[in-house]
Amino acid sequence: MLVVHGPNLNLLGEREPAVYGSATLSQIDSRLKDLGRELGMEVETFQSNSEGAIVDRIQAARGRIDVLIINPAAYTHTSVAIRDVILAIGVSCIEVHLSNVYKREPFRHHSTIADVAAGRIMGFGADSYMIALRAARNLAEASRAAGA
Ligand code: DQA
Repeated sequence: MLVVHGPNLNLLGEREPAVYGSATLSQIDSRLKDLGRELGMEVETFQSNSEGAIVDRIQAARGRIDVLIINPAAYTHTSVAIRDVILAIGVSCIEVHLSNVYKREPFRHHSTIADVAAGRIMGFGADSYMIALRAARNLAEASRAAGA
């Protein structure tokens, strides 16, 4: 599994804690790795503030991961490049947000990847990622069973 965090998520813990919670990104990443171990999955994590670096990292994962879990952060609302790379490498993808974007400003209601994601999980703070990881495991198992 690859978990990608977009711009400004490196500031979690101090960034608008009323909206995003008090957990830091490194705490979230450790929880993901611990849960991955529990579920028998290898979890890699990556954060960048740069759209190009995110596209490069997803390209590099081509053929190496079962599921991409991504919180594109602000790029959710603007990035055609991230949508395109998900389609280009043909990976199953789960879109994650800490906050419930539908309770927020209208510009956050649009996602460029919503219709290419297998599913979307939002509004549960750091737990959104943990729910996504459990869903990713089931997705990967289902696609293995279908291919077997
Ligand atoms: C976010 C929601 C986005 O609208 C925002 O730009 C973020 C974080 C979330 O996790 O709730 O940076 O993706």
